[in-house]
Amino acid sequence: MAISVSSCLFPVAGLGTRFLPATKEIPKEMIPLIDRPIIHYGVNEAVEAGCRDMVFVTSRGKRSLEDYFDRSFELEQALKNKGKGNLCEEIHAISRMASFSCVRQPEPLGLGHAVLCGEPLCSRGYFGVVLPDDVMIGEPPVLAQLVAVHEKMGGSVVALEEVPKEETSRYGIVAAVDAGDGLWRVTDLVEKPSPQDAPSNLAVMGRYVLSPRIFDLLRDLPRGKGGEIQLTDGLRRLLQEEPIWGVVYRGRRYDCGTKESWLRATVSLALEDRVLREIVLDALREEGIVEPIVNEGPVVE
Ligand code: G1P
Repeated sequence: MAISVSSCLFPVAGLGTRFLPATKEIPKEMIPLIDRPIIHYGVNEAVEAGCRDMVFVTSRGKRSLEDYFDRSFELEQALKNKGKGNLCEEIHAISRMASFSCVRQPEPLGLGHAVLCGEPLCSRGYFGVVLPDDVMIGEPPVLAQLVAVHEKMGGSVVALEEVPKEETSRYGIVAAVDAGDGLWRVTDLVEKPSPQDAPSNLAVMGRYVLSPRIFDLLRDLPRGKGGEIQLTDGLRRLLQEEPIWGVVYRGRRYDCGTKESWLRATVSLALEDRVLREIVLDALREEGIVEPIVNEGPVVE
């Protein structure tokens, strides 16, 4: 079967000012979550959704992203020479996850502008967009849930999450008609409305499957909220021509964009791992935050 969504675009040009000073010299997407950089999770999700071509929309200072997904011949040789064949294989596999290309966003003009910058590398059909700050864990993976809706219903698809009304001004918010089973037919979109102006509490969360028509619409768009070219405004225009579906995704979302939310994500993911869970609990026991386990002696059957 032909792959319906073969490219995935990652807007990764942002300065990461919410995570300074860590992000002074390291791209925020390269901050590790457990044992791999945040971007690795997003790329993995796109691969699991069937995408083969990853497109990074980058800026100055983001070279380590490219290097991470490139083959590191010297490192592989060194690991092999030390008899660490398994680790060598794991490292080599990163460069084989997909094909990677980069294009620069010369000015920080917003998410819509970042997507437009990716046009030369992903205009061959519907394409995915992953905002990698949000690490999404779902089964099936969240982008794959969107691709499944696109394959069944056609048109573009956005991931939705219900948010508390007082948080609407942090997200793109949709007006939508319930189509059942977590699926919504989008009828309007507003970028970061105040709670009183929000058409619903269904927020767009960093995963999209987009029609290539969006590029033409973004090109002609005036600046919107915050003086930026907003993807939400482009989608609003797209809605006049093509359907847009919203999926209330099944899964968990870990915001890794600030140190507070990153720390929460790190602890949550560690608690899900058998070995790391014990390390977290031990640390809490040492601090007296969690009761120590009382050794009740051997169990005699
Ligand atoms: C962007 C989009 C917004 C969306 C959000 C999801 O906002 O403009 O519509 O809801 O991502 O994370 P940003 O977080 O870049 O300000």
